[in-house]
Amino acid sequence: MIHPPDLATSIARPTQRPRRLRRSPALRALVRETRLDPAALVAPLFVRSGIGIREPIGPLPGVERLSPDELEREATELVRLGVGGVLLFGLPDTKDPDGRGADADDGIVQETLRRLRALDLPLVLIADTCLCEYTDHGHCGPLRADGSVDNDRALERLAMTAVSQARAGADIVAPSAMMDGQVAAIRTALDAEGLNETVIMAYAAKTASAFYGPFREAAGSTPAFGDRRGYQMDPANGREALREMALDVAEGADLLLVKPGLPCLDHIVAARARFDLPIAAYQVSGEYAMIAAAADRGWIDGRRVMTESITALARAGADIVITYAAADLARWIAEDRATVGAGA
Ligand code: PBG
Repeated sequence: MIHPPDLATSIARPTQRPRRLRRSPALRALVRETRLDPAALVAPLFVRSGIGIREPIGPLPGVERLSPDELEREATELVRLGVGGVLLFGLPDTKDPDGRGADADDGIVQETLRRLRALDLPLVLIADTCLCEYTDHGHCGPLRADGSVDNDRALERLAMTAVSQARAGADIVAPSAMMDGQVAAIRTALDAEGLNETVIMAYAAKTASAFYGPFREAAGSTPAFGDRRGYQMDPANGREALREMALDVAEGADLLLVKPGLPCLDHIVAARARFDLPIAAYQVSGEYAMIAAAADRGWIDGRRVMTESITALARAGADIVITYAAADLARWIAEDRATVGAGA
């Protein structure tokens, strides 16, 4: 029979001790593999008409619908925090079946882009290129008589939208409608207009996700009937995500975007391994809302969960992260940098 003292001396001792590198905050900071940088963050912003307007969005606490003047203020603050870019979503005063507001020269996004461009901020201006915020039926393209989205008519509308956004000053257009051939249609239209320096960030593998719920409330873009499963990807598919990305690369995408974020970590890893383009990940509205709501109830530590989520996207291979928490993260990163060893 082995007595307790003998057991203590006879058990195997580890020769590998990974805990050595975890002993102090300074050691952990030294060997940390993934560091967040505000310059790699993009803040989505919602713009509506008016002056001096900041309209709270219920399920997205801390995010507001802004009038162009308030959006200028917000962009200036984001620059002060070192955030790399903004992604603009327009909320038009009126909607129609073709989404005419999307490519109107005096459209809300075009007007805002011109104002931001005039400020000459060190901030990348990205325009979401889609029709769903502008169509009265809420789908991402014009409809056929049977109610389905007409892919090739949508391409014409998307190409015109991208051209008008680029003319108004967008550095990057970000087609998110998931129409077949949208990147090629936009690239050829931009080039034909002499806009060959405008970058295309392709929402390459965008799933028909339930995580977009709060966004649709913010943008008033919930489809009036049906859903988006006929054009957005089935969340169950991984190989198809890679096929979508390969098509977008072949069509001339400069950047690939994976969306939503945490539910699609595998797409990010696969994209990183397969393509050499920069990869962006979008932590979408539902992901943000869940963290904000649980933190509000005191069920989780919002700052730590948010930091951990964004770090996971970067660790999986995202070079750029789009998040409604961009300003908060930038502030936290600055605080953590002031103390060696603090942070995630
Ligand atoms: C436009 C678009 C949507 C989102 C980004 N671009 C809405 C949708 O596809 O329904 C969702 C972003 C988010 O949930 O934060 N097509």
